[in-house]
Amino acid sequence: MDETRFKTEFGKLSQRDFSRLSQFIYENFGIFLPDKKHYLLQNRLIPRLRELGFSSYGQYVDYVLNQGTESEEVFEMMNVVSTNKTEFFREKEHFTLLQQKLLPDFYGENIRVWSAGCSSGEEVYSLAMVLAEEKEAGHIPDFFIYGNDISKRILHKAIQAIYPYKEVESIPFAYRKKYLLRSKNKENPTIRIVPELRAHTRFLWENLTGNIETLPYDFQFVFCRNTLIYFDRETQNKVVTRLLKHLKPGGYLIVGHSESLLHQLPPGVKVIQPTVYQKIKKS
Ligand SMILES: C[S@@+](CC[C@H](N)C(=O)[O-])C[C@H]1O[C@@H](n2cnc3c(N)ncnc32)[C@H](O)[C@@H]1O
Repeated sequence: MDETRFKTEFGKLSQRDFSRLSQFIYENFGIFLPDKKHYLLQNRLIPRLRELGFSSYGQYVDYVLNQGTESEEVFEMMNVVSTNKTEFFREKEHFTLLQQKLLPDFYGENIRVWSAGCSSGEEVYSLAMVLAEEKEAGHIPDFFIYGNDISKRILHKAIQAIYPYKEVESIPFAYRKKYLLRSKNKENPTIRIVPELRAHTRFLWENLTGNIETLPYDFQFVFCRNTLIYFDRETQNKVVTRLLKHLKPGGYLIVGHSESLLHQLPPGVKVIQPTVYQKIKKS
């Protein structure tokens, strides 16, 4: 293979530096970067080296590893490492199930939902639309949705709640007029979530593999979709145990369609379907 084609203006990220970085990321954030991600990481770091004025990857790796895990640069690096792909009503069967089968268990209660690994907020606002409908129908008095992520950049997008117009395509037609504002800019059309819906949400900069003490312990629903997939089995178990702790008995944990927990089912949990689990009520 012609290795020179992988060279960037900063040379190459050596195998040793890739290993140092990937080990650091795994130990502190639970994200496992296999060897095949070497060149992806090398490319994604280019803007960081440019901004900080380094001339080689080695200099950058020495620098970032000397910063504390809570430092600005470590979080800047995590911003470029994490995959934030998401969309409104992604895996939409979960939203139908929530509305028709799961939510009726909690009619009459104030509903609290946690979107763990919320990315730019589309999952949070999709949930907010569904719950606003349920509130309007008189099934629930009120609702609140928390979203957390390790990427500050992506959380800023979530708080802004402004999205390219083409993202509306996955939003049910009936919700568009009610919950979206349209920009007047014809060249770069965008939508924004209405403030009435935004008022029911809060975004937190929290690491799922660290200690999360800022979140309530009585969620009826935790959505952790397409995030566990980046963790190895041991970290997944740790994170799932934490998520379950934050659920009230009878509450539901919903994971992504490619993330079934069936092979590692934690105790005290009932399978509703391969991606939906219920925390068993103590009798
Ligand atoms: C692919 S997105 C999934 C977004 C959304 N849940 C969905 O299903 O569309 C995964 C998100 O998890 C976040 N993430 C990865 N590791 C994390 C960690 N240790 N703590 C918090 N968030 C994390 C990433 O930054 C990314 O935004």
